Amino acid sequence: MKDTIQIHVKQDDGSTLSLDAPTDMGLSVMEILKANELDVAAICGGMAICATCHVEVLESGELPEPSDDEAYMLESLPHATPTSRLSCQLKVAEELDGLVVKLMPEA
Ligand code: FES
Repeated sequence: MKDTIQIHVKQDDGSTLSLDAPTDMGLSVMEILKANELDVAAICGGMAICATCHVEVLESGELPEPSDDEAYMLESLPHATPTSRLSCQLKVAEELDGLVVKLMPEA
């Protein structure tokens, strides 16, 4: 079992930032983005009620389905895409290794 995975963040200039994320600390993707000083407000602190951690998933393996709360919040976002997620609701786990996301305007 891997104890660190990589999460990649597509930048506006087309480059990709690769972040290491430990799988054994119960962190969310939002917390990894913030810890790397990316511009994610995450005002609600991960409760799925602010959407300021919105990301578009560009590449991934199998992701857990959004909860009803997350799905409801995503539906209300003007910039949401079919692969939008709230990064605070994605727990860092081995299945997420290689995840590629882009920060969205609400973030
Ligand atoms: S941090 Fe508020 S919805 Fe994710």
